[in-house]
Amino acid sequence: MMSVLLSLSLSRLGLWTSGLILVLGFVKLIHLLMRRRLMIKAMESFPAPPSHWLYGHAFEMNQTESLDKVVSWAHQFPYAHQLWFGGFLGCLNIYEPDYAKAVFSRGDPKAPDMYDYFLEWIGKGLLVLHGPKWFQHRKMLTPGFHYEVLKPYVTVFADSTRHMLDKWEEKAREEKSFDVFRDVGHMALDTLMKCTFGKGHSGLGHRDNSYYLAVKELTMLMQQRLQSMQYHNDFIYWLTPHGRRFLRACKVAHDHTDQVIRERKAALQDEKEQEKIQKQRHLDFLDILLQAQDEDGVKLSDTDLRAEVDTFMFEGHDTTTSGISWFLYCMAQYPEHQHRCREEICEILGDRDTIQWDDLGKMTYLTLCIKESLRLYPPVPQVYRQLSKPVNFVDGRSLPEGSLVSLHIYALHRNSAVWPNPEVFDPLRFSSENVTGRHPFAFMPFSAGPRNCIGQQFAMNEMKVVTALCLHRFEFAPDPMRPPIKLLQLVLGSKNGINLYLKPLGPRSGK
Ligand code: HEM
Repeated sequence: MMSVLLSLSLSRLGLWTSGLILVLGFVKLIHLLMRRRLMIKAMESFPAPPSHWLYGHAFEMNQTESLDKVVSWAHQFPYAHQLWFGGFLGCLNIYEPDYAKAVFSRGDPKAPDMYDYFLEWIGKGLLVLHGPKWFQHRKMLTPGFHYEVLKPYVTVFADSTRHMLDKWEEKAREEKSFDVFRDVGHMALDTLMKCTFGKGHSGLGHRDNSYYLAVKELTMLMQQRLQSMQYHNDFIYWLTPHGRRFLRACKVAHDHTDQVIRERKAALQDEKEQEKIQKQRHLDFLDILLQAQDEDGVKLSDTDLRAEVDTFMFEGHDTTTSGISWFLYCMAQYPEHQHRCREEICEILGDRDTIQWDDLGKMTYLTLCIKESLRLYPPVPQVYRQLSKPVNFVDGRSLPEGSLVSLHIYALHRNSAVWPNPEVFDPLRFSSENVTGRHPFAFMPFSAGPRNCIGQQFAMNEMKVVTALCLHRFEFAPDPMRPPIKLLQLVLGSKNGINLYLKPLGPRSGK
């Protein structure tokens, strides 16, 4: 009798559950359809490239040629066009300076549809915060990028680079091309760990090494998730082996950061230890974050501290890896510019084989080449906003509050109305005469406006130190059999790496 009752109530429960799932699914569908209607209405004055009714432009956007596809759409549709990631998520894709200014000179929030994927790892740090809390954090963290803080990092950059170049010396002896992207990635993460925690991968304890591996894994898993539509829904994703692997790596990263924060805080209680920190060779980001307070003396909570550390680790290593690797590719492609940069570096360094802070300001031609490679190969090719109020564009068209906007930095940098012969590598575009009069929103590798990259000076310094040391030690040539295949991952990557031939230039010098 009991078992009959139990099976009856179980089957009733099953029915209720299925009913509830059906109702919830129906409500969700209605919500999506209404959202789609609103999006179509909002963007009705903008054209849309041909798209699939269910997938939208997702196929085109997931292919390796997606970046150049958008450049070809930009020729067809000046200023902007609709872009659909599936049937229910559409945004206005823009690539024209006045359009970029209309949105990016304001502080609209990041689009949650795109940025919420990052939350599990980086929490609510600067990248995803908005409103007064973002403003408060930005103000508190800005001193961390003051040049007095950045100065000592030059030695950190140079040490990590030397380590990588010594390995390249051995690889180059095999006289085969190899992928520089991967090694630059190790070096950039090592550097960032040193600048954030005071300790890098070289000379790590077991705990730090697990952290290093976890960050690498998280970066890779997040890239795969963004490219795979079946992983986009949170509920489904956390049930998959991929999602669980992501959660495990998150735990390792978070535990490490929490532990380092606890240890630092405990050390700060001790006066002697405080004195030691004051006399320290340099402050790392964590020191700065622990000291940061707003005008009322309020400090960051432990959750906020962790989110900011994780945000720096996320934003700060893959971006510079991409910037440095594509720069080396440009140098290999254009030997005349490579030669000119090397001459400049040799003149600055003389007999030295390392770089000092004062050298950075003298690297004029190298800086022009770095900017030109950031134009052609922007490490962050696309960013998104959700409008907090309507926007009116210069040509009279407008978008209502709530609309999603994608700024396609890659297509903006190849917009022929702004950049004559956009595909040509010409560093003199950035000479002071040529920059005068250019639209301030024409070149946006670090975005622009109030939500621009807080780490841009750090990144430019790192790129200068690393690339100068690379060019000082090696000559770079392309591998015509393995040209890079551009791929929009979290950053601008290459499907098959960036394979270059390296020729050592003599004992640790660029002669
Ligand atoms: C070549 C290297 C880099 C490039 C190209 C780059 C590019 C960008 C871009 C385009 C944004 C805007 C993102 C958006 O609107 O969604 C951004 C924001 C940000 N970047 Fe960078 N970045 C680089 C390096 C760094 C480094 C080294 C750090 C930290 C150490 C960093 C920290 C941040 C943070 C915290 C934000 C969010 C700022 C805010 O919203 O207030 N970035 N970056």
